[in-house]
Amino acid sequence: MNQIFRQISGKDWKNDVYAIWSLTRGHAGRLAIAIICSLMLSSINGAIAWLVKDVLDNLAGEKNRVFLMLLPFGVFLLFSLRGFFSFANSFLMGSIGAKIVRTLRQAMYEKLLRLPMSFYSKKSSGSIISRLINDTAILETQIPFTAKNFFVQSTTVVILAFVALYRKWDLAILSFTIIPLIVIVSDRFGRRMKKTSSKTRRLISKVTEIIHETLAGMRIIKSFTMEEPLSKRNESAVSEHYRNVMREVRINEFTSSFMEVIAGSGIAVLLWYGFYLIVHNRMSMSEFLSFVVAVMMMYDPLKRLSRVNNNFQTIRSALNRIRDIFMLSDEKSGSVKKDTIKGDIIYDNVSFRYPGSPDDVLRNVSIRISPGETVAIVGFSGAGKSTLIDLLNGFWDNFSGNIYIDKISLRDFNLSSLRSHIGVVPQDIILFDDTVKNNILFGRPDASGQEVMQAAKTAYAHDFITSMPDGYDTFIGERGVKLSGGQKQRISLARAIIRNPEILILDEATSSLDTESEMKIQKAMEGIMRGRTTIIIAHRLSTIQKADRIIVLEKGRIIQSGHHKELSKQEGTYKELYNLQFNVTER
Ligand SMILES: Nc1ncnc2c1ncn2[C@@H]1O[C@H](COP(=O)(O)OP(=O)(O)O)[C@@H](O)[C@H]1O
Ligand SMILES: [Mg+2]
Repeated sequence: MNQIFRQISGKDWKNDVYAIWSLTRGHAGRLAIAIICSLMLSSINGAIAWLVKDVLDNLAGEKNRVFLMLLPFGVFLLFSLRGFFSFANSFLMGSIGAKIVRTLRQAMYEKLLRLPMSFYSKKSSGSIISRLINDTAILETQIPFTAKNFFVQSTTVVILAFVALYRKWDLAILSFTIIPLIVIVSDRFGRRMKKTSSKTRRLISKVTEIIHETLAGMRIIKSFTMEEPLSKRNESAVSEHYRNVMREVRINEFTSSFMEVIAGSGIAVLLWYGFYLIVHNRMSMSEFLSFVVAVMMMYDPLKRLSRVNNNFQTIRSALNRIRDIFMLSDEKSGSVKKDTIKGDIIYDNVSFRYPGSPDDVLRNVSIRISPGETVAIVGFSGAGKSTLIDLLNGFWDNFSGNIYIDKISLRDFNLSSLRSHIGVVPQDIILFDDTVKNNILFGRPDASGQEVMQAAKTAYAHDFITSMPDGYDTFIGERGVKLSGGQKQRISLARAIIRNPEILILDEATSSLDTESEMKIQKAMEGIMRGRTTIIIAHRLSTIQKADRIIVLEKGRIIQSGHHKELSKQEGTYKELYNLQFNVTER
């Protein structure tokens, strides 16, 4: 998929056609049958125009009874066949569109999973969702529609043109002179359409974004009674999108109306010359009518063809937005894989700054953590604690200095292998809209039911889980809305435990617990931490006191380090934090 999209470029339409073809290639069989159906359809249209002369000749002249008797059946047959081929054509084209979009959506989703964290701190989720849903939906409807129009209408025009040429070539050529005019007009409008359509795509992504944000923040919106300003914000986004859609409708309809005028003038010229030929006996009445029917029947296909360009520009703008995603580089991953590690961690003079932010978040951080050691990291909010452990997970690769795990540079590690040795209980607890059991299994999908229960027991979650209506099979709602903060935290802890990681990272893991749960967790954690390298970010005293070493971080620098007993005697940040009883509200 990446390769397909690398070939598209913003300017050259040939590359876009090639990309569409690459996406379609897998369904070439269907496409071929669909095109044959288009040809049949066009031929039937041609036959209808053609027959007009014979019918009129028979009615006016020889009156061949057999022919006239069979004609109604013939007409019935032709129309039935036209219906059939039209159905088959639409069905096949539609199925190709749907298949392309299915593949595309899955490929895009997989691409999203491979993108680095830096992408997600830049792009809004609304814009990503919109590309996955809205832009692919445009392709789903527009590709088959446009392809069908293109194949059916262009062949119809060609076949009808042959009928017209055969009937009276000079008259035909005269009436075809308007075709260049149609091409020019359709090109002009096509350009406008591409611009407008890209804008519409952007605007709908804004709308999606607002909805997404609103759903995630409903609790806050209600308690701060933000309904009215948000509703206004939504209205302005929806209205702007509406205005742009109307612009598209105008361009499309303007194209059509322009065609009417062009067609009208063409027909006027045609009638003028046609009447002249008939009056001077250079053409028969029936020939002329057959000719007129052919030309008239060309009118609608030509009108549709003139819009094909507009539709193609819409497809291009959706395709280009999808391409933006595929063109991004994947997370950089090294090649070293390890089945087990000891859990030896070294930060060697690490500095880091978030892309686009002016200051370093971490400055010359050097830490060495031995296997099995428990290190607590404390510091005021914003000091860089979470960032420090994000680096260990390989979320960012643009840091300076080096990080080693078991003496292997993080940059050389295969990311999946690296992460399989780390269990994280993050600050923002993320649970999925699934059962308790599956949320814990997320830590290690191949674990047994017994192991899930064991992990839950260790995390002191077993009791509350079994008291829920369906026990381990209870659905916890989106992001775990049906659970309390402490319950979510314990499930998140069980999820990290079941991984049995050599390195355990707890980011404020006890912050939203009441004293009782905290004591339970405290006990649980002592058991869990044994034999593992543990990095714990905490503001609860009890957790920190037991740590082998405490590292105090301030504005991205290590300013103090040592055991609780030493640090609490020194003047400095630790003492300050200690005196505040770690009541600093985090986040
Ligand atoms: N994705 C991000 N992009 C830019 N700045 C960030 C990002 N995440 C955190 N920061 C900034 O980095 C600093 C450290 O954040 P963090 O590591 O979360 O601190 P802590 O966990 O100690 O509270 C803060 O000033 C924060 O605003
Ligand atoms: Mg933090």
